[in-house]
Amino acid sequence: MKYLIFSDIHSNLEAFEKLLSIKKATEVDKYLFLGDLVGYGANPNETIELFKTINKSHYIRGNHDKVIADLESSSLFNPVAAFSAEWSKIQTSKENQEFLKNIKRGPEIVDHFITICHGSTFDEDYYVFSMFEAVESFKFMETQVGFFGHTHFPIIYLLRNDKIDIVPLSKNIKIKLDPNTRYLINPGSIGQPRDKDPDPSFVIFDSTRKEVHFQRFPYDIKKTQRKIREVGLPEILSSRLESGI
Ligand SMILES: [Fe+2]
Repeated sequence: MKYLIFSDIHSNLEAFEKLLSIKKATEVDKYLFLGDLVGYGANPNETIELFKTINKSHYIRGNHDKVIADLESSSLFNPVAAFSAEWSKIQTSKENQEFLKNIKRGPEIVDHFITICHGSTFDEDYYVFSMFEAVESFKFMETQVGFFGHTHFPIIYLLRNDKIDIVPLSKNIKIKLDPNTRYLINPGSIGQPRDKDPDPSFVIFDSTRKEVHFQRFPYDIKKTQRKIREVGLPEILSSRLESGI
């Protein structure tokens, strides 16, 4: 089985459309999305509409989806995130807001052997930014392999003989999974990468070959930036796309 694993689209329609035009990304058996469909970007409705067209998918909600669905207040967000969440809430149609409301909270176990979650396996809002936090997340994971989002930072944590480690990543890296090792993998973000590389990133997981392949692609950043400025969202949401932070 081949899975496309992707996360944090954040209403970036251009990046999402480009992803769906990539042969390698779409010649898969299933799509696994790790949350944060909306927030930050200028096209919440269009992004949700496009997402609805994907078949054979498993997906969970992100913290932004939850706030924009009006299930939680934006008071814990930083001012820029809160502003864009409130703006997105106003823009999102009733029907699309209903769609967001019905997205399940993670974690979810897909096909009995893959865990998907937004932040961590025990709390959708918890950021896994370090080995310490990854260990916490491993404790609550029942499968050998898990995928998480939320940080917008592509990374692989591995746990072998009770020892935690990180796999150094480079563009288009492919790694073979070891049967005696457990993995927590972040595919990075489609709509707002934060590892200083503005190209969106995703993962193809081939469960037959036991391979995880990280991939990136360019898209029309200028167009996305222009739209963010035109609708009056904070300038930082436009400029950060270019620097990938
Ligand atoms: Fe996010």
